[in-house]
Amino acid sequence: MKFDTPAGTTPIDRQTVIGRPHPRVEGPLKTTGTATYAAEHHDLGGDIAYGYILGAAIGKGRIAAIDTSAADAAPGVRAIVTYRTAGPLGVGQFYVQRMLAGPAVDHYHQAVAVVVADTFEQARAASALIRVDYARTTGSFDLSAQKADAPIAPKEPFGGPSQIVVGDFDRAFAAAPVTLDETYTVPDQAHAMMEPHATIARWDGDLLTCWTSIQQMNWGVRDLARILGIPKANIRLRSPYIGGGFGGKGTVQSDLVLAALAARAAGRPVKLVLQRTLMFNNTIHRPKTIQRVRLGAGRDGRLTAIGHDNWSGNLAGGRTEPSTIPTRLLYRGENRLLRRYLTTLDLAEGNAMRAPGEAPGMMALEMAMDELAERLGMDPVDLRIANDTAVDPEKPGRPFSTRAFVECLRTGADRFGWSKRPGSPASRRDGDWLIGFGMASAIRGAPIAKAGARVRLERSGRVIVETDKTDLGTGSYTIVAQTAAEMMGVPLDRVEARLGDSSFPETPGSGGQMGAASVTAGVYAACAKLRDIVVQRLGFERDDVVFADGEVRSAGRTVSLASAARLGELVAEDSMEYGDLSQRFAQQTFGAHFAEVGVDRYTGVVRVRRLLAVCAAGRILNPVTARSQVIGGMTMGIGAALMEEMAVDTRFGLFVNHDLAGYEVPVHADVPHLDVAFIDEVDPTMSPLKAKGVGELGLTGVAPAIANAVYNATGVRVRDYPITLDKYL
Ligand code: MOS
Repeated sequence: MKFDTPAGTTPIDRQTVIGRPHPRVEGPLKTTGTATYAAEHHDLGGDIAYGYILGAAIGKGRIAAIDTSAADAAPGVRAIVTYRTAGPLGVGQFYVQRMLAGPAVDHYHQAVAVVVADTFEQARAASALIRVDYARTTGSFDLSAQKADAPIAPKEPFGGPSQIVVGDFDRAFAAAPVTLDETYTVPDQAHAMMEPHATIARWDGDLLTCWTSIQQMNWGVRDLARILGIPKANIRLRSPYIGGGFGGKGTVQSDLVLAALAARAAGRPVKLVLQRTLMFNNTIHRPKTIQRVRLGAGRDGRLTAIGHDNWSGNLAGGRTEPSTIPTRLLYRGENRLLRRYLTTLDLAEGNAMRAPGEAPGMMALEMAMDELAERLGMDPVDLRIANDTAVDPEKPGRPFSTRAFVECLRTGADRFGWSKRPGSPASRRDGDWLIGFGMASAIRGAPIAKAGARVRLERSGRVIVETDKTDLGTGSYTIVAQTAAEMMGVPLDRVEARLGDSSFPETPGSGGQMGAASVTAGVYAACAKLRDIVVQRLGFERDDVVFADGEVRSAGRTVSLASAARLGELVAEDSMEYGDLSQRFAQQTFGAHFAEVGVDRYTGVVRVRRLLAVCAAGRILNPVTARSQVIGGMTMGIGAALMEEMAVDTRFGLFVNHDLAGYEVPVHADVPHLDVAFIDEVDPTMSPLKAKGVGELGLTGVAPAIANAVYNATGVRVRDYPITLDKYL
């Protein structure tokens, strides 16, 4: 099916199942511990062996010698894979790191060997017997030190052009009556998801099946085929449940590659769980950014000049953290200069982490807007409203598909009680707490991509949906089932969604905030086809057929859906593809975040007291799962504002705090009541569902709202995240 004109009325608009707050359909499996995560498939026969990765002990250099003889002879050891035995390996298309070191070592904790043994303990013990002699070379580990020489990044597949010039920024900035020129830093951050990267790999002849934890099945198959040099058709990936990913499981990581190599070497299925302590330096992370923001405005607050320069570093072949993305479409301003600079760093690969670009970009831009509001003597909400734009500032002929940005701001200000904010910094106390309010805007792209599904109507009247979409705790199972239930006119408990199997019809998976909108459109297409088949079989006229309450009705005739399937199962497979709607309209999600913090006047401890997110993201398919996505983002935003930082040892080239003891994320006691409101809107340019994703919107803008509240409480501006008390005491 092709979607190339804005949707009119569709069966989804009835909203008997879609749009309703259904709890997660797979929830009972998870709460009873019976949902099988990647490392939990214990039913693959008794001959599973265990893999254990040895990570490189240097940040940059090469392996001068490696001696595995003692490890080979250790109890239970079945195979040891190193670069000398693995054969040549390619690199993936999205994550570009090499999965096995040797002879070159590209970064700390890059895998140098995987040991396979009968038990996990034997594999771990044997790994300690491997002798590696390293030759260290000087590496580059310090973004600040290299920033001055960093060139503008080459053309990149994501994030738009590395340099955007509109009008004459320099002239407009010089002429502006009120200006701001400040530099902000966002540190290296880790996904730190609950479930570690894990794979069970099994070879049946040339066919490789992997139970793993991957967000995008199609990328996983593609990248694994490239890395191993085998045909895509020989690979089947299965990720029915994923314990969080945030972009760190977008595609193939070392666990998958090394489990496959280890299983081949051992001639047995191999289970490989990446040790928690390796996750931080072995896999990808969100790379540090240094961001200079320059804003020029008239006395009325209207922006005339917007400059945003972004520096980040990566391994050779890696990309920038594209923090200039949100600056392109959020505010008006005739003169714009946005640039991304890239330098080589020999740390682990920097790549996608939840709202890549938008999340760190907004941490800079929205603090800058707060500072500008103060210089203008303007309310921060009013400043944002004054800079709303109805069109793409880079292409004034291109409207937004929907843009309820101002509504988010006004609704949020009202609901939060923004008018009661302390008018000047450090002016309010509650006992020993200094109280501050802060706010920030939110924007995140709403991409959508071709997605397929297969729908089967069983003789019993049950509907089975299969797609390779994944559910990393987001609610995919539920919205897929809801879409099919709405389309086929059956109750939700008559639908079973089967996800996360690369042998099912292809979708873009879970990533880029495109999963929900894309997969539901694919399910819509397959269901539309199935409806046609049912209508044909029943001999109905197509025009007035209604599917509802498990029945098919037309011109006074009513037939149960089950009876349509009685002669034999009915199956339909289709996908939704898109024309140029995303070129004609700027498709984005918008929001506003409001925060109240208390800062202890003696210790400097920050407590977030209240957070509110107001989101405009098209039709909300399920208010429960959507809200969960947003409060997850808000929680992550608390971490980004106040805690999260991988500290770089610039001498030896590693992230020092590489476990969950050293890498701080919010715990329950750090998270207050989180209030979420959705603006009632539909976006008919997206798909027949008229929905957009919301999973990453909930993060963008949270950290700067908190940062601005800390400033409002203390009067001290910290431009270097995370905002820890040592920086303002
Ligand atoms: Mo997301 S970082 O696009 O999984």
